[in-house]
Amino acid sequence: MTQLSAAQTPQHTPGDGSRALYGGRINRRITVRDITAAKERGEKWPMLTAYDATTASVFDEAGIPVMLVGDSAGNCHLGYETTVPVTLDEMTMLSAAVVRGTSRALIVGDLPFGSYQEGPVQALRSATRLVKEAGVGAVKLEGGERSHRQIELLVESGIPVMAHIGLTPQSVNSMGYRVQGRGEEAAQQLLRDAKAVQDAGAFAVVLELVPAELAAEVTRTLHVPTVGIGAGSGTDAQVLVWTDMLGLTGGRVPKFVKQYADLRKVMGDAAKAYAEDVVGGTFPQDEHAVH
Ligand code: KIV
Repeated sequence: MTQLSAAQTPQHTPGDGSRALYGGRINRRITVRDITAAKERGEKWPMLTAYDATTASVFDEAGIPVMLVGDSAGNCHLGYETTVPVTLDEMTMLSAAVVRGTSRALIVGDLPFGSYQEGPVQALRSATRLVKEAGVGAVKLEGGERSHRQIELLVESGIPVMAHIGLTPQSVNSMGYRVQGRGEEAAQQLLRDAKAVQDAGAFAVVLELVPAELAAEVTRTLHVPTVGIGAGSGTDAQVLVWTDMLGLTGGRVPKFVKQYADLRKVMGDAAKAYAEDVVGGTFPQDEHAVH
């Protein structure tokens, strides 16, 4: 896709010079340098997940500046129970679709479980696929101190890295889905993890399911932006899984999700209306036919 048209460019808030990422005038592909500059200005920004070109194009037109092709695709898009089975081939295919559907957002591709844990060289090989074959502008991987060597090599090789600490869903089998960083020792470990990934060169850090006070402290401590999910309002940015936030996910969603729409109902009602029309003979009408 080409650059956004004037009509598609998100509206600038009059007189608000502090905004560039959302509601600002950037009408080219956003880069990690824009993200770094936003932290210096104190600008907050939204990130959403995306797994396909069509949905990504809607979010791009809405002005969402950063999209994560998360391995949450596993449970939100591909029908797996967790993110663990997701493969690098799947992430490459989904990431390429999201890149094709967007012209402005920075696209971050998630490295799936098993594609970087062996060490820095495996991480570089996997990240290179996401950059070369899918065209992402950055990759994300899970882990703090334990992943710092991988982050260092990727950054040295010219691949921007978003780190992910706190609850790391790829470790569900050992960690479960529990709040992280509770208690003095766990909080100190989270701070060490945050500093380790920053020192290794990460341009941003996702903090998942950690107490709001701790997330705010990490945010004050780091010079790179923090992206919270279930981490309160004190982080520099927020991320939500799009199917949760638009009400498409079936069943319960986590407490930290705010639902902005009920797409599951909208789509279900539309599908039923179509089916009724077909069985009742009221669709198609003459206007839908060719002669
Ligand atoms: O895979 C994903 O969607 C994520 C976000 C929850 C941060 O890692």
